[in-house]
Amino acid sequence: MQVFILGGTGTIGTAVVAELVSRNHQVLALSRSEKSDKLLMSAGATPFRGNLTEPNSWADVAVSSDAIIQAAATFGEDMGDVDAKAMKALAQAAETRSAPTRLIYTGGCWLYGETGDEIAMEDRPFNPLPAFSWMVTHAQMLLDAPQLRTAIVHPAMVYDTRDGGVFFRFLSAAKTGQRIEIWGSLATRWPLIESSDLARAYCDLVERSDLVGYFNAVAEEGVTVGRITSVISEAFGSPTEPVIRTVDEAVKENGTWAKGPTLDQQMSARKLQSAVCWQPRFIDFAEPTSRWIADLRA
Ligand SMILES: NC(=O)c1ccc[n+]([C@@H]2O[C@H](COP(=O)([O-])OP(=O)(O)OC[C@H]3O[C@@H](n4cnc5c(N)ncnc54)[C@H](OP(=O)(O)O)[C@@H]3O)[C@@H](O)[C@H]2O)c1
Repeated sequence: MQVFILGGTGTIGTAVVAELVSRNHQVLALSRSEKSDKLLMSAGATPFRGNLTEPNSWADVAVSSDAIIQAAATFGEDMGDVDAKAMKALAQAAETRSAPTRLIYTGGCWLYGETGDEIAMEDRPFNPLPAFSWMVTHAQMLLDAPQLRTAIVHPAMVYDTRDGGVFFRFLSAAKTGQRIEIWGSLATRWPLIESSDLARAYCDLVERSDLVGYFNAVAEEGVTVGRITSVISEAFGSPTEPVIRTVDEAVKENGTWAKGPTLDQQMSARKLQSAVCWQPRFIDFAEPTSRWIADLRA
């Protein structure tokens, strides 16, 4: 298949490109710089120069592919507006095609809000952080678009052994011997998934265009931030006593998105598992993370 990917150099996209290439798919990836061109080419993808903010230059090419993956985000104030323009352009371009185009759109665990002791399944009503509420609207628009066959993936918090992903902030502190800063509480639970496991879920869904709707992608339903930070600090031999900051302090210093990592959440991937027989390879983050840190220190 030819797959057009937006965000092929990001945390999620890098892993997805690697998995697509390993499955012998042809990957065309939107790229906005020479640096991204090089990264994509070294991963076996073909860069297509363009910007997420200017979809008219790439939407027709995207819909002429067998499938499209949206894993790009500007993470600026304009994040929702840029995504709206890009996704509307895709839906319109798809209308010019004789057959519907497969689209995998990225949502996220933060759209469920706090779940506490409940485990979020796909039928749970959304309660998104205001900074990400546009995603719910866009996902519905794409599901309703007549010429798109859309699957929405809700990734858990994604860690990886490239730059750490959601562990990046913790790793950076521990690596330099500093105490890790926690926002909110040590008891906050994060649903987790390793990036290559997530990538297999995206690719399984790309290859099954009969499957539409929402799919949670998660390997560990909810791991406390306290456990994550103690595994990381112990592996680095750095101080294990974290610095605790309040949610308000974190938001004031880092912006409204900082509320996301303070949500106490649990999530299940039972639907994905039964739909495509997907199983995560990493069911305890401590194993790949400790091994990766040991290699870094060797
Ligand atoms: N990471 C997680 O734990 C997680 C969990 C759940 C949901 N999500 C969602 O997944 C999506 C991707 O997250 P991520 O963590 O993979 O993001 P990321 O690592 O920050 O990557 C963002 C990607 O978007 C591209 N991009 C940004 N602005 C662009 C522009 N103007 N034109 C073209 N490309 C542009 C970047 O390309 P460059 O290389 O050019 O910068 C990069 O490939 C987001 O919507 C996020 O909310 C992430």
